[in-house]
Formats: sequence, C-alpha cells, structure tokens
Amino acid sequence: MVSRGSYSSSSLLTGRFHARKLSPSIITFYTMFIFAFSIFMFFFYVRHISVDEDPPLPLLSQQSKSHQVPELPVHYKQLWDTPFNHGLHQCVKPTTKYKAAQGFDRYLTVRSNGGLNQMRTGISDMVAVAHIMNATLVIPQLDKRSFWNDSSVFSDVFDELHFIESLKGDIRIVSELPKNLEGVPRARKHFTSWSGVGYYEEMTRLWSDYQVIHVAKSDSRLANNDLPLDIQRLRCRAMYHALRFSPPIENLGKRLVDRLRSHGGRYIALHLRYEKDMLSFTGCAYGLTDAESEELRILRENTNYWKVKKINSTEQRIGGFCPLTPKEVGIFLHALGYPPSTPIYIAAGVIYGGNTHLSELSSRFPSIIFKESLATPEELKDFANHASQTAALDYIICVESDVFVPSYSGNMARAVEGHRRFLGHRKTINPDRKGLVGIFDMLETGELVEGRELSNMVQRMHKNRQGAPRKRHGSLPGIKGRARFRTEEPFYENPYPECICGSKSKLEIT
Ligand SMILES: *[C@@H]1O[C@H](CO)[C@@H](O)[C@H](O)[C@H]1NC(C)=O
Ligand SMILES: *[C@@H]1O[C@H](CO)[C@@H](O)[C@H](O)[C@H]1NC(C)=O
Ligand SMILES: *[C@@H]1O[C@H](CO)[C@@H](O)[C@H](O)[C@H]1NC(C)=O
Repeated sequence: MVSRGSYSSSSLLTGRFHARKLSPSIITFYTMFIFAFSIFMFFFYVRHISVDEDPPLPLLSQQSKSHQVPELPVHYKQLWDTPFNHGLHQCVKPTTKYKAAQGFDRYLTVRSNGGLNQMRTGISDMVAVAHIMNATLVIPQLDKRSFWNDSSVFSDVFDELHFIESLKGDIRIVSELPKNLEGVPRARKHFTSWSGVGYYEEMTRLWSDYQVIHVAKSDSRLANNDLPLDIQRLRCRAMYHALRFSPPIENLGKRLVDRLRSHGGRYIALHLRYEKDMLSFTGCAYGLTDAESEELRILRENTNYWKVKKINSTEQRIGGFCPLTPKEVGIFLHALGYPPSTPIYIAAGVIYGGNTHLSELSSRFPSIIFKESLATPEELKDFANHASQTAALDYIICVESDVFVPSYSGNMARAVEGHRRFLGHRKTINPDRKGLVGIFDMLETGELVEGRELSNMVQRMHKNRQGAPRKRHGSLPGIKGRARFRTEEPFYENPYPECICGSKSKLEIT
C-alpha cells in the first residue's frame, strides 16, 4: 500500500519559490524543474490510482486515522491490516461459450440438510447441478430436523426473489412445483458425494422416465475440483451474489455492524464454537468437570446421527481436533498482541457452561460483545427460536469484521473464511490448534510463562495463517480413492483460482 500521506511532499518545495527578481536563465531552469516535477507527480498519481482500484477493503481499514488508540503497539498495522492481496479481485463472469440452461419442463426438488452454512453451500451446488442437468430448480426445502430444529422456510432466511432474479441467466428457478406435477412419481436420489460433471450428465438419463427428480440431501454432492470454469463461477455467483439473506436479516445485520463500529472502531469477530453440541460431538472434555463430561457423553450417546460414540478426549485434543476453550482463545489473542481493550464480538449459540467458562476469556478481554448486548430484545424478538436466522446475523457480522478468528474449523468458519477471501482477502486468523496445544501444555506445566517468548512462538506459528492469497489446496498426498475428497480444501473455503483473479498488468500469483 502506498502511504496516504505522500502528497504532502509537494508543500516542502513551495517555500523556495518566493518572489524575487529572477534572471531569464533561472526562470528557464525553474520552468524545466516544474515541468519535470509535474511529470514525476503525474506518474506518482497514476501509480496511486492503480493501487486504489484494488477490490474494496473492509470498510473499517480506512478509518484508522479518525480512530485514535493510545499507546499503539509497534505492530499495530500487523494486527489489523488486510493481508497484501497482490491486486487480486473477484471474477465470476461466465466465459463466452456459456449458455443458460433451457430445461423448462424438468424439475429438480431439493431437501437441504444441515445447519445454515451447510445448506447454503449445498444450495449453491444444487444451482450448478440444475445447470448441468438442464433442469428448473424448485426453491429448496430447508432442514427442520437437524440439531438446530429450526422451522424457517427458504424465504425466511434468504431473499427468494433476488435469488430467482439474479440467476436468470443461468437456470430457471420457481417457488413451487407446478400443481399438475405434484402427484407424478419422482426419481428420489441420493447423489453420490463429490461427483463431477460426468456423473450428473449421466444422471440426465433419468429425464427419459421422470419429469421430477428429488434430491434427498444437498451437502457435498459436487466435487471441489476438476470442474469446468463456468460451473465453478456459477457456484460463486450463487453463493456470494444470489444467496443474499432476507431483508430483515440483512438490515439488522448491517445495523449491528454499524453499532459495533461506533463502539470502538475495529473489532474481532470470534466464532467461539464452544457449544454443547460441538463439545459433545467432538468428545472434547478438556477443562470440564466430570459432571459436564458425563452430560456431553450422554448427549452423544443419544444423538443417532453422530456415528462415533467412544472418543478419547486427550487424543482428540493432542490431534488438534478440539475447539479452543475460551481461556485458550484469550491466551492466543493476547499472545498475538491484541490489547485488552479490543472489542471482540462472539458469534455463537449458547456457550457451554455459560459464564464459568467465558469468564476466562473476559478477564483478559473485557470488551466481549454478544448479539444480545448489541441488539435490543425488540430487534431480536423475531429471530428467537430460529437458529438459522440468528446464525445468519452472526455470519454477516463475521464477514464484515476486521479480523475473523474461528476457534474451530466447522462449516461456518470455512464459509466465512472463503467469503472474506472472495471480498478481497480480509484477515482471517486460523489458529494452529495442534501446534497451540503443545504451547498451552507447556504453560500448564510451567515450562513456559506468558510473555515475550510465548508471544514470539505464537506469532511465528501464525505468520502464514492470516488469510493471505493462495490457491485452494488439493488432497493430501498418499491418500487414495474417494477418501482423498475428504482431505481436499473445500471449494467455498477458498474459491481461488476460479473466482479470484489477478488483472494482467499486475503480479500473478502462482
Ligand atoms: C434442455 O431442455 C430443453 C427442453 O426443456 C431442450 O429443448 C434443450 O435441448 C435441452 N438442452 C440440452 C443441452 O440438453
Ligand atoms: C424442537 O422444536 C420442537 C417444536 O418447536 C420442540 O417441541 C422440541 O423440544 C425441540 N427440540 C429441541 C431439541 O430443541
Ligand atoms: C486416552 O489417550 C491417552 C493418550 O493416548 C492415554 O494416555 C489414555 O490412557 C487414554 N484414556 C483412555 C480412557 O483410554
């Protein structure tokens, strides 16, 4: 970034130009000097403009001047600035050979499964599948049976009209199946997970027997990689442009972001996945009482769709498979250099154990903010008991934050990280949970104390985990067969290179 104070250098020169009797040769010299200087300024200015054409930065990074924080640490910029993005920007336009799907008399009905973010990525994939299969998409049904138990329908969570309109050049979308087709037999399909274009082209044979195909599950049905560029970009148009939240959610989300900014300027959004379902599902009991561990074990035992029942909590934690505890997050952010006054918005449902566990974070960072303290009860009234809608509010606040820190890598963390990359590589600090456990354990045994050394270790460990541009990584080496799909970085966690491009004149990342 070019420093914003650069223009002031011109004023240094003005003092030398006081009125005096000047000889013609001196006038010639000054004229040439001014001419040369103007050329210099012109090129400087042009360079400055080209820098400003980069994708929009997070709103707040522009405000650093008006927001004066006393005793700035030396690395203040490091704490808050967007990683250098090399002039990369979003690119979602189709190629010239791309055509809208014409299948007006074949319908795809979809039952989305999972929480908000799993449904959102799944629906974006179904848009692509409808295009590949040349079908009309019926507005998907949302999951009402998952852990979240939310009765919201599509138009409660998403802006349905906008969704239909904005994908007009891609596929036809209708709110409901035409009445005359409601009774006809449907092909009910569990599409194979992580399938490519060939698979769905092959599935079009179903159209010779059926006019309606019902997709029973929408999550992870489409491969992350090796799909045509136009399909990948369609996924991005669906995910980032078409699937806008419904107006009440968008409006309140924006109001809450404004309110957070008016509090103290910059803020961290912390996805503190320290919730009952997550701890029970992962079997992570570190730092919990015996009674708490037992409660989580029983919940796991009784939840049918969680397949793994016997979990060794210690092994989970050492492997880096546990969400950071509130205390660990506190130590982590402190070690990174964030001052105690930093406003931290907590995106989460109900924190397990409530204040008992949370106080270990708030003792270090007292400016902890929940949506309940940011919004009035009146504002939140319509969202209560709708987990998907409250999750959508959190999503907006996380995407707009200056720094996003997920304490665990779930669907929400991945979706937010990918969206922030798409919007201009906004800073996302991904804790190296496995590495950190080693450090936390040394703290516990007294081998290490909080201070400079620990801080250096943590900072070194996270130097390259701040959301800077890089291409999506493929499967882990040595893993064969379908298992490799699981180890790939999900498409929506990092839509680079397909939906993020460098302009020709600028440095290309390879
Ligand atoms: C798509 O479906 C329409 C009929 O709904 C048909 O006319 C068209 O040929 C199909 N296109 C492809 C590529 O199969
Ligand atoms: C799910 O919602 C129904 C109806 O709103 C309620 O009766 C039930 O107790 C809820 N289940 C859970 C696990 O919250
Ligand atoms: C869990 O794993 C740890 C480390 O591998 C081991 O020391 C411990 O005995 C295990 N606990 C149980 C209950 O199996």
